[in-house]
Amino acid sequence: MAMKRDIRSIQDLSAAEIREVFALAIDLKAKVKRREPHPLLAGRVLAMIFEKPSLRTRVTFETGMVQLGGHAIYLQPSDIGLGKRESVYDVATCLSRWVDLVMARTFAQKTVDDLAAFGTVPVINGLSDLEHPCQVLADCLTLRERWGELAGRRIAWVGDGNNVCHSLILLCARLGVHLTVGSPEGYEPKGVILEATQRDAVETGSQIRIVRDPVEAVKGADAVFTDTWASMGQENEAEARKAIFEPYQLNRTLLAKANPGALVLHCLPAHRGEEITDEVIDGPQSVVYDEAENRLHAQKALMVCLVRWSGM
Ligand code: CP
Ligand code: NVA
Repeated sequence: MAMKRDIRSIQDLSAAEIREVFALAIDLKAKVKRREPHPLLAGRVLAMIFEKPSLRTRVTFETGMVQLGGHAIYLQPSDIGLGKRESVYDVATCLSRWVDLVMARTFAQKTVDDLAAFGTVPVINGLSDLEHPCQVLADCLTLRERWGELAGRRIAWVGDGNNVCHSLILLCARLGVHLTVGSPEGYEPKGVILEATQRDAVETGSQIRIVRDPVEAVKGADAVFTDTWASMGQENEAEARKAIFEPYQLNRTLLAKANPGALVLHCLPAHRGEEITDEVIDGPQSVVYDEAENRLHAQKALMVCLVRWSGM
């Protein structure tokens, strides 16, 4: 019997499975454009747990389930009080008796891990403090649409070594993409994430580098990523972070140091005039709305694959 599969981290997907998700996402995207029905999850239900706000994640998962012939239930923090009103164990166990999939956006990674461990249906990380796997699947799908094969490409991340950055590091290592991260001291990606890439990097030849200088980070890059300087849950640090991250702003001057025509990615929500300027996010090199659109297609493919792989 197949074991149920979870996506707590990018590490839960092999390189071959990531390619399978991309291929199905491209197929499903074409079907949406042709208005061709594709009820691959007919009658299935997704529960969506949110401990933090969301536009993209909520709307794309919910829309995705409708397009796949299923249904999604939005559970806001005050609805269930995860770990407060009742234990994560009881929430995971009850949801598993009713629904086919669970997506959770949490503060602690442990909450996603526990939901996955206690539940008997697939659990998808919809952003935790440690990772945002769905985001980088959509981002790399966007790059794949532009470039074809990603292996051997050189990309850059400037700013906070945060959850999105962590998932990107893991995905690049797994797919053989070279990534340079430029972060201020004390805001680099976590060592545990870098350690986790080592075996992949040997296998795929991916070079993951952490540098201090944002100009050095973007040099030779065909795509430059950035994200907010203060993630959800860090609002009280926002003012202090502004001063620290100012040299890492993705503006025209910094972008000019990357390869000509380098693509610009940002997971959104963006703080225009802080981590990214209007002229860059609205400029011809920006693919930020393609990324946002591709959240829908990548996650639909991911849900279909998870159900298939789990033998459900
Ligand atoms: N990029 C992203 O996850 O957006 P939301 O926070 O709006 O879901
Ligand atoms: N790093 C950001 C991503 C938002 C989608 C955060 O965690 O708030």
